[in-house]
Amino acid sequence: MRDSAQNDSIPTYADLVAARFSRRTVLLGAAGAAAASAMSFRLPGAQAATSSSTLTFPELKKVYDETHHVAEGYNADILVRWGEAIVSGGKELDAANQNAADQAKQFGYNCDFIGYMPLPLGSDNSEHGLLCVNNEYPNPHVMFPGLTEDDAAKKMTPDQIKTAFESWGHSIVEVKKTDGKWQTVKDSKFNRRITGTTEMAIAGPAAGHKLLQTAADPTGTRVFGTGYNCSGGVTPWGTILTCEEGLSDTFGGDPAKGGDPALLERYAYDGSDYYGFARIEERFNLDKVPNEPNRFDWVVEIDPYEPGETPVKRTALGRMSHEAASCIVNADGRVVVYTGDDDYFEYIFRFVSSGKFDPADRAANKKLLDEGTLSVAKFDQDGTLTWIPLIHGQNGLTAENGFADQAEVLIKARLAGDTVGATKMDRPEDIEPNPVTGRVYAVMTKNKKRKPEEIDAANPRPENHYGHILEMLPPGEGKNADHAADTFKWDVFLLAGNPAKPEEGAKYNEGISADGWFAAPDNVAFDPKGRIWIASDGANDFDIADGLYGADTLGDGRALPRFFFACPTGAELCGPAFTPDGKTLFVAVQHPAENSETLEQVTTRWPDFGSDSLPRPSVVAITKQDGGEIGS
Ligand code: FEO
Ligand code: CA
Ligand code: CA
Ligand code: CA
Repeated sequence: MRDSAQNDSIPTYADLVAARFSRRTVLLGAAGAAAASAMSFRLPGAQAATSSSTLTFPELKKVYDETHHVAEGYNADILVRWGEAIVSGGKELDAANQNAADQAKQFGYNCDFIGYMPLPLGSDNSEHGLLCVNNEYPNPHVMFPGLTEDDAAKKMTPDQIKTAFESWGHSIVEVKKTDGKWQTVKDSKFNRRITGTTEMAIAGPAAGHKLLQTAADPTGTRVFGTGYNCSGGVTPWGTILTCEEGLSDTFGGDPAKGGDPALLERYAYDGSDYYGFARIEERFNLDKVPNEPNRFDWVVEIDPYEPGETPVKRTALGRMSHEAASCIVNADGRVVVYTGDDDYFEYIFRFVSSGKFDPADRAANKKLLDEGTLSVAKFDQDGTLTWIPLIHGQNGLTAENGFADQAEVLIKARLAGDTVGATKMDRPEDIEPNPVTGRVYAVMTKNKKRKPEEIDAANPRPENHYGHILEMLPPGEGKNADHAADTFKWDVFLLAGNPAKPEEGAKYNEGISADGWFAAPDNVAFDPKGRIWIASDGANDFDIADGLYGADTLGDGRALPRFFFACPTGAELCGPAFTPDGKTLFVAVQHPAENSETLEQVTTRWPDFGSDSLPRPSVVAITKQDGGEIGS
């Protein structure tokens, strides 16, 4: 379409990007103006300047093959694979004889979020700790012979379905660095699996609500299992938040006969029963147990230091396809959790606790996520970010609009976001505060369905195949940033894509190399210097490997990604996590060979490459060969 043919009221992509970048000096105010020129992007055609990153590793070349690669000068060692026996009495993976009982004691499938939790609790030990790893979902077509992605649900045997059920959830394994090499500690009392069948409690404002009650659990406070555990977070009191990223496709039955067809549709419960679970458990049948879906799609808190403790679903954080739940203690002591709803046109949320963090009272801290205010983000073109509170009785969240009480606001958080007019984002994945600067990074992975007339300043590209990263700027800086404020400012950090193809509309620091660009950003982590490390999930669409890119967030190297680690074919990179000393970076290589038609035609047998080896999602420990900090 010609520009002149466009509706005047609809800003173009160029209008939006120009408005955002030219406004930066105003946003920073007089004090920040001097820093602005060093921080800002150069717009196309602006004078070239030397851009230099503080990250000094030799950048990887673009690559896409059957194994992983790391920048020269680093080691990237397999630490733990799917199927390794971690719980006492467990058996190692036997590819031809997989079963649910063995899987329940083995490291789970499709590793995602990683929390490194030092031992002992409260220390900053960077050589001994607990690796707490999400296991997002199984890939039956490369676990078992004779299956394709499309027919697995129908063809899997009940034993295979049960095995798949035990392969997701979360894995906790003690790890130790000895003579410079990380190893798992087998049979540790901390080693534990949390799976699709583990009993959990439901707490917070929606616990016990009638929409959470079933015949098996009339109290609405106990549920078996967790699933689609994607990214997560670590609380200031040393627990893990594992995020259920939407179990919609694991349910079967007829949604039209379910409890609330409109609610099921809004949460994409279509009865597809992708893993055949509904064949073996009635509760996964929408028309048999209509409230069971409402008992999933929450954030679950796990205490890795208390292996006997029951995990708890925290309903105060709302119900959605949670990607991550990133915590920070606000300057006033309240705890703030950022979480995104990872689907096209979904929202970014923030929880602020009512109570304050008390370093001396861990038991009290473990109740902080049950009481507080959930808000949803609205991004305005003038650079204002408003957090709209989701409180029953306010902003249209009333009984006549379908919200009988506060519990229903939380159970139907997506509908609450619709009602209050939140900004529909391009699939929000990680939302993560930079602990050094206090700025919060919001990662939009992509949105191929956004139409030209649907763009806005915070989602400025139609048919966004590449993703982008926004900065959410609370008032104040560093430790004094007010993460509980009603309004923030916001800005664009980068727009992903290949800068050699202007039609993609990518924006990075102009010093970017031919290897430093990426697509589909997903998880991020910050090193002790406050530099951002960006993992990608979807670069295979562009015939490049998914991997990890490091970048400064301030200074000359701002938004200048440098390619550090590449995944094997079919895999995405997840869960980057640094030890407190910044000398180890753990990464999760998820779904290697997922792009295979069947196991018989597998695209890689990473990481072992034996003639009968299965591809095995694995956590990799990256260290610098000279023992120094990663990236420095
Ligand atoms: Fe599980 Fe949003 O990636
Ligand atoms: Ca994933
Ligand atoms: Ca993700
Ligand atoms: Ca993703």
